[in-house]
Amino acid sequence: MSAPSFVHYARYYDLLNRGKDYAAEAGFVDGRLRRSGLAPGTLLDIGCGTGAHAREFAALGWKVTGVDLSADMIALAQSKTATASGIGYATGAAAEFQLECRFAAVVSLFHVVSYQAADGEVGRMFANVRRHLGAGGLFVFDFWHGPGVLADPPAERVRRAEDGRIRVTRIAKPVHRADECRVDVNYEVGIEDLVTGTAERIEEFHRLRYFFLPELAALLAQAGFVIEGTQAGLSDEVLTAQAWYGLVVARAV
Ligand SMILES: C[S@@+](CC[C@H](N)C(=O)[O-])C[C@H]1O[C@@H](n2cnc3c(N)ncnc32)[C@H](O)[C@@H]1O
Repeated sequence: MSAPSFVHYARYYDLLNRGKDYAAEAGFVDGRLRRSGLAPGTLLDIGCGTGAHAREFAALGWKVTGVDLSADMIALAQSKTATASGIGYATGAAAEFQLECRFAAVVSLFHVVSYQAADGEVGRMFANVRRHLGAGGLFVFDFWHGPGVLADPPAERVRRAEDGRIRVTRIAKPVHRADECRVDVNYEVGIEDLVTGTAERIEEFHRLRYFFLPELAALLAQAGFVIEGTQAGLSDEVLTAQAWYGLVVARAV
């Protein structure tokens, strides 16, 4: 079994996620940051993907830098971003990248923390986030919430999307490894080129981890954060044991 692969992912990522309301999500996080006393300043988006949140944050007045492990995702982000937006992008791993500046806020949205599935990786990511935040800075991230995943374990799912040029069918076959709080997702992706009539089939493997709040609180404390708030995903709802997605707002101390 190989390491998680994002090589082909970039090609169909935006198409499969085109129903996602990035403007509303960035607006929600922006509101949450303001409620915690931050006016738009510098913001680092870790695991920025194709830059959809980054562009929305920039439109809200933040000076944004995006970092992602995948050079293909970063290339797409750059191609979709107007130079005048002032957004900077860099390729790097969440636990390892090093930028010269410290930011007022760091966000990591849409499963990125759950992709830190190797032993100790999320702790190293948190320490690296802390190094890039000034004292009092805020770190906002979502994660797969252990109680919710156990209450409603992952099951096979099929997603389809097309844009007149390509048609993508993605079948996700999860293998739940509850003893390791991990879900290994094998993706079978069919990509049909509607112009040339050709088709290809790709297999991808993504390993994700789910977390329980007490362990996140301990890892965050070790890295120099206190949790300021938790919610169910990008919403004002309370994080119950049924919620699959959690959101943490942590402050650098
Ligand atoms: C589901 S996508 C989310 C992308 C983007 N945040 C969004 O909302 O569209 C997960 C992203 O995390 C990135 N990623 C996964 N592991 C990473 C790591 N260790 N360091 C940096 N980026 C990572 C992937 O390359 C991918 O772009």
